[in-house]
Amino acid sequence: MTKKPIKITETILRDAHQSLIATRMSTEQMLPIIEKMDKVGYHSVECWGGATFDASLRFLKEDPWERLRKIKDGFKNTKLQMLFRGQNILGYRHYADDVVEYFVQKSVANGIDIIRIFDCLNDIRNLETAVRAANKEGAHAQIALSYTLGDAYTLDYWKDIAKRIEDMGANSICIKDMAGLLVPYEATKLVTALKESTDLPIQLHTHYTSGVASMTYLKAVEAGVDVIDTAMSPLALGTSQPATEVMVETFKGTEFDTGFDQNLLAEIADYFRPLQEEALKTGLLNPKVMGVNIKTLLYQVPGGMLSNLVSQLKEQGAEDKYYEVLQEIPRVRKDYGEPPLVTPSSQIVGTQAVLNVLAGERYKMVTKESKALLSGEYGETVKPFNPEVQKKAIGDKEPITCRPADLIPDELDKLEKEMAQWKEQDEDVLSYALFPQVATEFFKYRAAQKTKVDATVADEKNGAYPV
Ligand code: CO
Repeated sequence: MTKKPIKITETILRDAHQSLIATRMSTEQMLPIIEKMDKVGYHSVECWGGATFDASLRFLKEDPWERLRKIKDGFKNTKLQMLFRGQNILGYRHYADDVVEYFVQKSVANGIDIIRIFDCLNDIRNLETAVRAANKEGAHAQIALSYTLGDAYTLDYWKDIAKRIEDMGANSICIKDMAGLLVPYEATKLVTALKESTDLPIQLHTHYTSGVASMTYLKAVEAGVDVIDTAMSPLALGTSQPATEVMVETFKGTEFDTGFDQNLLAEIADYFRPLQEEALKTGLLNPKVMGVNIKTLLYQVPGGMLSNLVSQLKEQGAEDKYYEVLQEIPRVRKDYGEPPLVTPSSQIVGTQAVLNVLAGERYKMVTKESKALLSGEYGETVKPFNPEVQKKAIGDKEPITCRPADLIPDELDKLEKEMAQWKEQDEDVLSYALFPQVATEFFKYRAAQKTKVDATVADEKNGAYPV
């Protein structure tokens, strides 16, 4: 039996808590278990990117860069991985190349080994700068294909894009199935096709939302996928990933055996379980997201988008319009050139669908983001836009066809000037670039904390406090 151990990326420090508990795991909650996690033998641990950056600054009042450095200190043997939204970095707009390059440089300098880069339209021009920067910094550049369904997304489409990714200088490819749409036998076909088209290692990332994920992994591994993404059981399943321990056990004694120690995994799970129980008690973890949501297969909409939709409609007092909006989403998606639904395209399509239904007339009101998308400012979609909708949204404005960032002048200097008064470390300008308001609030909080500490030290010196 030739051995071909399946490699595993652990997601509990990023995607799992983002998907289940609104990205609220703090650095303090992570650090005590890292030494044990470092002994497992993971291919990598995903610990940064996505919403972690925003949630750290906004809700946890933590510096995300400080978190990364502390995690890196603990993981002596395991590679650290982050998720990176192409030219959007971790934000929601397109940034100039100088910001993208600087972010990659600082991420690697602070401890990231593998950068998973994706674009919500699969427009690979939006990945070029990040891939080049990762290559330059000596990091592993992985390109993730945003997986979706639709007429345009044939096996030939995926094979072609994989080939182009290889030519771009990426080190591996990830199939990023954010909605859990990839069903087991389709995974066999997709992985087989990609393996025909490229020699790059292939990783599969999916979510349990629709209930098929562990079967999908089984078929994908049999078809030759190299790495799978899993989460330790206390924060697995539901809208998160399949459970690490379960996948490890599944492949035990086969050619794909990971060789991981189940006793060690059990100790790690024991550490995270009270955190899960606490989150259930406080309501941070809603038992609803732990179940199977078959609507995601019916409407091909990611779980996170469904819950956003519910809260948007609630705010408008229009919860009765839920099913109407669900049916409008695929129509808007079609008008917009059939993009995958992942941040930020998922928000753009979802919000426009809500407006179309609530206004009683399609595209009577059009969001700023919809206009930008239909002007080509997010890049090229797999199919052309509906010309009538485009005309209604942007009038006679000439859409752009170049790589959107080609039109954005360098902006680091300007950003540095804007935030100079708050700067305590080089990385602060990047926090500010991504989330100007949230980062500024955090900088103020950080400065106030410091003043407090200084005052305490001074008081202690003055004998104001008993020693
Ligand atoms: Co994910």
